[in-house]
Amino acid sequence: MKRVLITGAAGFLGSHLSDRFIKEGYRVVGMDNLITGSMKNIEHLMPLENFEFYHHDVSRYVHVAGDIDYILHFASPASPIDYLKIPIQTLKVGSLGTHNLLGLARSKNARMLIASTSEVYGDPLVHPQTEDYWGNVNPIGPRGVYDEAKRFQEAITMAYHTFHGLETRIVRIFNTYGPRMRLDDGRVLPAFIGQALQGKDLTVFGDGSQTRSFCYVDDLVEGIYRLLFSNHAQPVNIGNPDEITINQFAEEIIKLTGTSQKVIYVDLPKDDPKQRQPDISKAKEILGWEPKVSRAEGLKITYEYFKKVLS
Ligand SMILES: NC(=O)c1ccc[n+]([C@@H]2O[C@H](COP(=O)([O-])OP(=O)(O)OC[C@H]3O[C@@H](n4cnc5c(N)ncnc54)[C@H](O)[C@@H]3O)[C@@H](O)[C@H]2O)c1
Repeated sequence: MKRVLITGAAGFLGSHLSDRFIKEGYRVVGMDNLITGSMKNIEHLMPLENFEFYHHDVSRYVHVAGDIDYILHFASPASPIDYLKIPIQTLKVGSLGTHNLLGLARSKNARMLIASTSEVYGDPLVHPQTEDYWGNVNPIGPRGVYDEAKRFQEAITMAYHTFHGLETRIVRIFNTYGPRMRLDDGRVLPAFIGQALQGKDLTVFGDGSQTRSFCYVDDLVEGIYRLLFSNHAQPVNIGNPDEITINQFAEEIIKLTGTSQKVIYVDLPKDDPKQRQPDISKAKEILGWEPKVSRAEGLKITYEYFKKVLS
């Protein structure tokens, strides 16, 4: 039985990936320091014989006894609220944490996939974003701690690939949503649904003309699964190209939840990207992957999840 180490396993994406690998018959080793994650996300996995959990900070030396075939490095604060609160830890997990895990991958002869992000494109000057665009990032702005950690993460992963011949994969994830997101993580989707459910006005940053493209978590997990088992070491965008303005999105949430609240406008945070839309031609060609879940379907499932959480 193959064994896979998933860092950030108690987080939103890490827990869904753990579910998928357990379902596919792998032994899963989850590792997390719970800085933004929760044991609630994996409590259903804890009794399973094929699931082990280590409470550990991957920015410190990482040791796991026994064979490891694959490493998926998903540990990192991921929302602006989180990484602005813990900027140094964010830089460390992207740099030192990635270095530690690459070393572990080398020693175990494991294949390593890292969770990069559309934020490596910064506030993009190319639209939609293709993998060969180098990005427009402010290294010393508030978001620099996350964006540059992820850019360094890609650079060191590529260096291990070319210099040590390590098998590596890089996924550039665009905004993803679904059950197990935190209502208070500051991202626009849980923020709008949470506000609607709690009878508050929906807060739009700026004038709401900025765009986002939301991918349902099951689609993302499928793309990552295919990428891991592909032969492709270069970065691949995974996301849903169905682009929408924040104003249109607020309207959709108002309709979905039936709230009578209105939209209020506040200042746009510094360096907030104006446009976000993945070009997924590469994922289509190399992985035969494209998203299947429509925003209407995905939002309905996520809304039901948040309703349960709040009740
Ligand atoms: N969700 C998205 O839309 C999205 C988009 C782009 C990239 N990503 C990337 O995917 C990964 C997971 O994001 P998420 O949305 O699930 O966030 P999350 O905050 O829900 O999960 C991250 C997990 O990593 C853990 N963690 C953080 N630092 C750690 C450390 N030093 N040692 C061990 N564990 C640590 C946290 O406790 C948490 O459980 C991140 O690397 C993020 O950058 C996510």
